[in-house]
Amino acid sequence: MQATKQFVSTAWLNLQSRRFALSRKTANHIFGSFDMITTCLAAVLIVILAFATLTRKDVLCVAVQWQDKQKPAAVQTQKHDEKTAVQRQERDEKPTAVQPQERDKKEKDEKPTAVQSQEKDEKPSALQSQEKDEKPTAVQSQEKDEKTVAKQSGCLFPLVVHIGPHKTGTTTFQTFLIKNAEWLWKEYGISVAANEGVKAAAYIPSTIRQQHGLQHNPKFADPKKMQELFQTIGTMPANSPVILSSEEFSTLGTAEWNDFKSQIAIQKRCVSIVVVHRRGLNLRASIWNEVNKNSISPDSFLISLLRRNGGEEEFQLKVLDTVRSIADSVEGVSYEYLREANYSIASFTVCNATLRLEGSKWELCKTSVELRMPGIQNPSAPPAAFDVVRLAYGLYTRQKAANYPRCRKKFAVRAYKNSAVLRVAEQMPTLCGSLNEAFSHVDELWYNRTGALKPEGREDPLCFVDEGSLKLEHWALLSTLLPPGCQIM
Ligand SMILES: *[C@@H]1O[C@H](CO)[C@@H](O)[C@H](O)[C@H]1NC(C)=O
Ligand SMILES: *[C@@H]1O[C@H](CO)[C@@H](O)[C@H](O)[C@H]1NC(C)=O
Ligand SMILES: *[C@@H]1O[C@H](CO)[C@@H](O)[C@H](O)[C@H]1NC(C)=O
Repeated sequence: MQATKQFVSTAWLNLQSRRFALSRKTANHIFGSFDMITTCLAAVLIVILAFATLTRKDVLCVAVQWQDKQKPAAVQTQKHDEKTAVQRQERDEKPTAVQPQERDKKEKDEKPTAVQSQEKDEKPSALQSQEKDEKPTAVQSQEKDEKTVAKQSGCLFPLVVHIGPHKTGTTTFQTFLIKNAEWLWKEYGISVAANEGVKAAAYIPSTIRQQHGLQHNPKFADPKKMQELFQTIGTMPANSPVILSSEEFSTLGTAEWNDFKSQIAIQKRCVSIVVVHRRGLNLRASIWNEVNKNSISPDSFLISLLRRNGGEEEFQLKVLDTVRSIADSVEGVSYEYLREANYSIASFTVCNATLRLEGSKWELCKTSVELRMPGIQNPSAPPAAFDVVRLAYGLYTRQKAANYPRCRKKFAVRAYKNSAVLRVAEQMPTLCGSLNEAFSHVDELWYNRTGALKPEGREDPLCFVDEGSLKLEHWALLSTLLPPGCQIM
């Protein structure tokens, strides 16, 4: 590896000295005092130089085009062409049988040795020499261009901020990001900010909120952690995109965003926002789920709708309008659309919003991201499970009220990740339906403002326990969830 490095830097030095030599030789040629071979050599070098100049111009154009949404694909072509055949080779050479295995077994330690050795032996020499030795020169030339571009457009390669909001699959996406930070860099030149923990990025929006008096949490009183995160982003390669993900960003207003932007502006990056939309009804159901998953007496869905008294759908519109007013670009995407199309927020954020790939490059990117997706990280319990807990709790309080002498233990049943509750729920009579229409006008407004692709089909209906149809045997089943001594005989 050391040898390769040396070779590349020597080659670079050679190239540099030849450039100087070139102008001398061209001059000599004009005076007609050179033989054919030298002339040919000079001609070849001129072509090489011209090509190099052109390529740099492309790099320059690319940065400008990133903002110019009309020609987004250019970035990719460029970036990918810059990275050598090595990476393509890697991708092609990875045996296809290995890939599904990679997904099943979880992480890189478990990667089949074939892939490991391939990654260790083949890539480094070529790729690292490229990354470590060649890149500096590319970066140097790029840095000059950056200054020019920064003057023209105000910013350069994007900081892509995924802002959730809550309950749109954020934890799963963040788990993907931190587990694959290294892969994203090697494969696509994407840096992952705040990759030390799934929720580490939350320090930025939460500290800003705290500074604006919007919350008072001792955890975010000291801005040190946030400053460190900003600093780390500042050290990430300027000529490649960065992804930062925290659903807490969805709670920032314009003033808070401006604080954030002033930090990023120093780094001359564009701020591109990825915001996910959930249909109003699904969002309500999901929030109900989150709020009640560890409750021993969960609200019924209807009660939760009334208690929250609306607002979640409008909240999504408000978040959208806020980020549209502050960001260089906003990429809206429908959670339900992605589900229908069988791909994830991760594929969308990486392949669409960040790399802006199209056609077969996009397909390839999507497929390789999907293979690396972790399982769902924060699974929801089915609605009927909450009904079961609520009904069982009602039964328990009745036993207590009747002074059941042996009923002394506390009721401690919860819906979340509870297989006993699930088993009972499966045996209850249920009633299923959808209320999507009740919220669809606000959903439509969101699709309209973002131009996001809409989900086609109807969501799976929500199924609740049909309480009016409960028979004695159902109550007996519910009773099995009660503490011993409290169960009905
Ligand atoms: C998504 O997957 C489902 C089930 O595997 C399939 O029925 C459906 O056609 C797929 N949709 C698309 C757009 O590929
Ligand atoms: C992502 O990009 C691909 C390729 O251009 C496109 O077909 C797809 O519709 C995009 N997805 C979304 C949700 O916009
Ligand atoms: C949004 O609605 C307006 C007016 O109904 C319509 O003209 C426009 O094309 C819509 N935009 C999108 C992106 O659907």
